[in-house]
Amino acid sequence: MTNPSTARDLRIEYLSRPIAVATRVPRFSWIVDHAQEAFELEVATVTGRIVWASGHRYSAETSLLEYGGEPLRSDTDYTWRVRSCAEGAWTPWASSSFGTGLWDAADWVASWVEPVQQDALVERWSIVDWIRGGGPESPPEDRLRPPQLLRQPFVVREELVRARLYATARGVYSAFVNGRRADDQVLAPGADAYEHRISVQAYDISAALVEGENVLGIALADGWWAGRLGLTGSSAQFGTRVSAIWQLHLEYVDGTTEVVASGPDVRSAPGPWAYADLFVGERYDRRRVPAGWDLAGFDDGGWMPVAALDGDHDVLRPFAGEPMRRVLELPAVSADDTAGGTIVDFGQVIAGRVRLRVQGAEPGQQITIEHTETLAADETWFTNIAGINKEQTDVFIAAGGDEQWEPEFTFHGFRYARVSGLRGPLVLADIVAVVIASDLAQTGSFAASDARLDRLHQNVVWSQRGNFLSVPMDCPQRERAGWTGDIQAFAGAATNNAQIAPFLSRWLANLRTDQLDDGRVPIFSPRSPFDAEAAANAQGIGAIVAAAGWSDAIAFVPWTLYERYGDRRVLEENVDAMLRWIGFQRAVAAAELPARLADEELEDDRRRAQALLFNTGDHFGDWLTPSTMAGRPIHEAIGIAPALTSEYVAPMFQAQTLTVAASVATVLDRHTHAAELRDDAAAVRAAFAAEYVDAEGDLPVRLQGVYVLALAFDMVPAALRPRTAARLAQLVRENGHRLDTGFLSTPYLLDVLWEAGYADLARSILWQREMPSWLYEVDHGATTIWEAWDAIGPDGEIRAMSFNHYAPGSVDDWLYRRVAGIRSTSPGFRSAVIEPDFACGVDDVRAHVGTPYGELAVHWHRTADAASVVVDVPFGVAASLVTAHGTVDLAPGRSTHQVDLS
Ligand code: BGC
Repeated sequence: MTNPSTARDLRIEYLSRPIAVATRVPRFSWIVDHAQEAFELEVATVTGRIVWASGHRYSAETSLLEYGGEPLRSDTDYTWRVRSCAEGAWTPWASSSFGTGLWDAADWVASWVEPVQQDALVERWSIVDWIRGGGPESPPEDRLRPPQLLRQPFVVREELVRARLYATARGVYSAFVNGRRADDQVLAPGADAYEHRISVQAYDISAALVEGENVLGIALADGWWAGRLGLTGSSAQFGTRVSAIWQLHLEYVDGTTEVVASGPDVRSAPGPWAYADLFVGERYDRRRVPAGWDLAGFDDGGWMPVAALDGDHDVLRPFAGEPMRRVLELPAVSADDTAGGTIVDFGQVIAGRVRLRVQGAEPGQQITIEHTETLAADETWFTNIAGINKEQTDVFIAAGGDEQWEPEFTFHGFRYARVSGLRGPLVLADIVAVVIASDLAQTGSFAASDARLDRLHQNVVWSQRGNFLSVPMDCPQRERAGWTGDIQAFAGAATNNAQIAPFLSRWLANLRTDQLDDGRVPIFSPRSPFDAEAAANAQGIGAIVAAAGWSDAIAFVPWTLYERYGDRRVLEENVDAMLRWIGFQRAVAAAELPARLADEELEDDRRRAQALLFNTGDHFGDWLTPSTMAGRPIHEAIGIAPALTSEYVAPMFQAQTLTVAASVATVLDRHTHAAELRDDAAAVRAAFAAEYVDAEGDLPVRLQGVYVLALAFDMVPAALRPRTAARLAQLVRENGHRLDTGFLSTPYLLDVLWEAGYADLARSILWQREMPSWLYEVDHGATTIWEAWDAIGPDGEIRAMSFNHYAPGSVDDWLYRRVAGIRSTSPGFRSAVIEPDFACGVDDVRAHVGTPYGELAVHWHRTADAASVVVDVPFGVAASLVTAHGTVDLAPGRSTHQVDLS
């Protein structure tokens, strides 16, 4: 026989050739095009000394295999190779490489360096100010401060072999070496729970250095650390002063090493910006660029020495995952000259910014670019984001000549840009929208023979891209906060479209450090000291710190990553945090009774049951349930679903989190513990049923979402389930086959109906075109998923809502799992089924997902009485095709199947 082909797509911690792996025990993955019987893996130093030889391992596993050799060293490059054996024959070796990050505080000798001139007003607003529409009175240039430039000259000797720069900031920074960018990432270090951990970026700058004098330049702005953020647009939420820290590790042929560290020799000066803020935008004066500031020979005599601050190395963590980059560029679709400026349409709601070419401007000419996601119904300019400090406006002051400009330290949520201040008409080719996102591998696709369904899927992909920006955000214009509930609802869908494991694992690491001592998991992460203070001083919704369905992200998100990627480590990392959240719920359940019962004499049984239920406190409930919003002003409307549903939603999530934690404990071989958690879950469910499910299977509020969650989380005794489901079906029919679910229940609506035997009803909700529905948004020109179904009302009224909120896009998972029919049936797609819904309402569907073992794809096509199904199955996935005629095991590779539908 011929030799099996070499392993491909070699990865460490999901990444191809990372240069600064964050963990001491990295995991190796590769893909094979044969049934692997054994493998052999070797890791060596760059000089060829083997540090791990796995020997022959008789295992079919090719995903996330843990390193098992001698301890790896920090800041060191390694090579690795793997070969695989099939039918007794070994493949040739396949090779790759990786480097390790600076793991220990002790690896750091550098000082944090802080520019000395840092005056700015600290702007603090409350939610009440926000609701009242308050805001600053003076223009941003009077309140915001200029980003700083920092420079450090250093000498490189001859015969340099390796130069690795490690850098980060309390602020947002860009690194330059000898006048060039250190790499193509943007907005480093991204958002973190900075009090506890700050991600360090690594740059391979060997090629940028020369023998003799070199210069390292850092441009440093407020970013997430000191800039405006969150609902209230308050500034300085983590700190008031920006600083940076870096170490450049140089290695020479002769084996000697040198470290160039940030310290007192660094000098700084204000850069060409009057200000640069994530929310407000930036004001940049090309004339004020100190020419050659990041090159050798520049005279920095007039620059100020920085303050060098000792210590504070414990917060530094190697960044894990993909950085933010410019991932796409969109040309302008049209431009319209209006009195206020030229309105450019990019045809797509994005997160990013505009790059503009300006020709023949007068020196000092000021060009202004405003951003919005939607125009008013009459196509005039409309700012859809209400709030303090959310100008989303950039200003470019030209130096004259042929210039190109893109902001450095800001991003906006927009589809339209209004450009004013140009001398002549805007040339469409001179403007592009630059899409900024965490640069995650796009691993899935879905396309159907219906343009609306395709658009719906694309809208989800765009909302995912626009909100996977360093952390999973709610929306890229108004808050940009890592709301836990939103990603809890959306994580499953997100796994199909992109490789999100490192991205969410890093966010979970932040979330864990944000967890409170009493076990509460905050409603968003990163959470700043300002957020903690604001919640302590607020009332009602503003005072919520942890909430049902939000805090449960600590269990649901790791479990989703395990199910879809087979990542066991994410469970190990998060299990304690989950248990602490469970402990908090348990303590509150034991201590508190819902207010309505406070004066009642409860029987013992009922008191005991109540003591198990986490059913008190303020929560968001089934947030934004459509029928609770209708006809009310938004600030009033958002309180209704919390008031109506929290008492039931909270114990349902409590039960499900216990169940998830039990499954986690099982996977981690903590079997006694798992049994206890399962018993606890059963007790909570029994107490819930006794308290809230009546003899007809009905729940205390007739809202779809409460029924959906009760069925999805198994809260209803088995004998009553059909009745509960029938009631849900009735509610859906009474609502004209339209959904009426909030953030928390929407992900389960269609599945619950399907599993209860109401497949047609589920399909009719998907195809619904009246508001609220997904296709209503599509019909109304949506290019992303909206926060509220009526963001554009049936009367054409445009509301000041977010047009880019992924949470309601959780339906995308249904498109993959049910419409295309691709489902993982054991962790990480070790086994999977292809079970197309030929009756879903389209004739042709093509979809694929990236499993840990390679692409699993389906293309099905139907006519009136037959369907053909073409499936591509990677080696390593035990897949079967499930149709009304039964189950067929699928061999690896491509196979075609005919299905009789008559
Ligand atoms: C955010 C949501 C978030 C919610 C909490 C909103 O302002 O945009 O997506 O989950 O608050 O209820």
